[in-house]
Amino acid sequence: PPNGYLRPAGSPFTVIAHRGASSAAPENTLVAQEIARRAGADWIENDVQPSRDGVPFILHDGTVDRTTNGTGNLRDLTSAQLKALDAGSWFAPQYAGARIPTLAEQLADLRTRGGNLLLEIKGRHTKDEVAKIVQVIRDERMTDRVFVQSFEVDALRHSRELAPELPLGLLRSTLDADPVALAKELGLTAYNPDGNALLARPSVIADLHRAGVAVMAWTMDSAGQWQRLEQAGADAIITNRPAELAGWNAAL
Ligand code: G3P
Ligand code: CA
Repeated sequence: PPNGYLRPAGSPFTVIAHRGASSAAPENTLVAQEIARRAGADWIENDVQPSRDGVPFILHDGTVDRTTNGTGNLRDLTSAQLKALDAGSWFAPQYAGARIPTLAEQLADLRTRGGNLLLEIKGRHTKDEVAKIVQVIRDERMTDRVFVQSFEVDALRHSRELAPELPLGLLRSTLDADPVALAKELGLTAYNPDGNALLARPSVIADLHRAGVAVMAWTMDSAGQWQRLEQAGADAIITNRPAELAGWNAAL
């Protein structure tokens, strides 16, 4: 049966802001989230991983080196150490003082200001680590506004066991031989491939749709790509340029 994430023909894409409005503001911060919301993004995409003391934080890389004024592996740093870092100055001086948000802070911001979250469980996680993420989502009363995705099949399996109410998407850099079979095995709501890989074999979209599985493509920033994905029938686009995609979408 079709799921609620399938895009009816002729309707706009779901606009998903990759790491927030990451071309306009420091990625994965609350200010990037706010700019994406104002730009008309339907969802925010971000990346979650645990700190040394087991608190889920929003960070893409395994280390804090690129996007903060600190150094070291996220998993080796405590929450107190992470909260002291400046996650904005690397991007532009005007963002000095932006912090690495915890998942709880990010969800609280979405709950009060509006918006949905495409939450990527980044890298390998134990079941206990996924359980902590699920607990935060439940504590923040956001289970109906979070969609979980991961490249890690085990993370999706853990999520499904712990929180069957959360929809799941499988991230892929290349297409599987039989995405429909995999989607059924894992109980996916969406199959989330690299957009260029998808455009090389767009017939998988119709195959997945027939099985009731949505398709979300990443990370697509040009109107030429959006046009081709629109014709191919993709349901959602993850982009660094949510304002431009929302505008393009509205003109469809
Ligand atoms: O949402 C898809 C995309 O975020 C996956 O790649 O490296 O940006 O997490 P990455
Ligand atoms: Ca991501």
